[in-house]
Amino acid sequence: RASSSESRGALIVLEGLDRSGKTSQSSRLLSYLEGLGHSTELWRFPDRSTSVGQMISAYLSNKSHLDDRTIHLLFSANRWEKRVTVEVSLYKNFDYQKFQDSNELFSRSDGFTQISLMETQLKNGITLIIDRYSYSGVAFSSAKGLDIEWCKAPEVGLLAPDIVLYLDIPPEKAAERGGYGGERYEQLEFQRKVAKCYQAQCDSSWKVIDACQPIEDIEKQLQDAVLDHVTDVCQPIEDIDKQ
Ligand code: TYD
Repeated sequence: RASSSESRGALIVLEGLDRSGKTSQSSRLLSYLEGLGHSTELWRFPDRSTSVGQMISAYLSNKSHLDDRTIHLLFSANRWEKRVTVEVSLYKNFDYQKFQDSNELFSRSDGFTQISLMETQLKNGITLIIDRYSYSGVAFSSAKGLDIEWCKAPEVGLLAPDIVLYLDIPPEKAAERGGYGGERYEQLEFQRKVAKCYQAQCDSSWKVIDACQPIEDIEKQLQDAVLDHVTDVCQPIEDIDKQ
């Protein structure tokens, strides 16, 4: 892709209730951006592959029980571990400053773990589509009655998205789609509360898309929404700040 020395990848976040269609739309968006020649990766939170992610997964499938604040912080930690990866500090002779300056991805087969810091990838021109992010964290925990400001606090300092795409679906419609997999939060009454907590966070920077439309229409609207955000992104990467 054409890029000035300053240009970087875009951070695109998809949010919505369970069964709002985020996951299939994220993959369609990935194909679209790749088709345009943008280096793009699809990530999701929770990232169940890490040890923190496995604790989250056990909680969601009711195999473990955790206090509301504890699980909230684990979801947040799961994002933090992708912003700055912990394995880095375990390397012998690892020069962290040099790593940051070199702006390179490590993918070596010589005993080092491959690490992928979000920021590094964006700076390397890779656009990240993220299926759920901080706004899920805040919506699902505050829906349980936790104070919303308390919920936002551990998210401060994570990378701020360039655009948040919200797939808007009435909770009743999402429930009708079936296929709630039986995980902890997949219940209509709770999803109604989550929808309200999403609304509390939605501001003018969000692009709200009616998720009840035909799949192809949603796909097209998502494409239009991201187009401006993926071409020659030059503004600095910012952190989520207190709001
Ligand atoms: P997800 O893996 O997207 O669901 P699925 O397995 O159905 O594809 O997310 C699992 C659940 O975790 C979902 O109900 C939303 C919830 N969640 C939080 O409560 N906090 C968070 O920070 C995130 C990212 C998700």
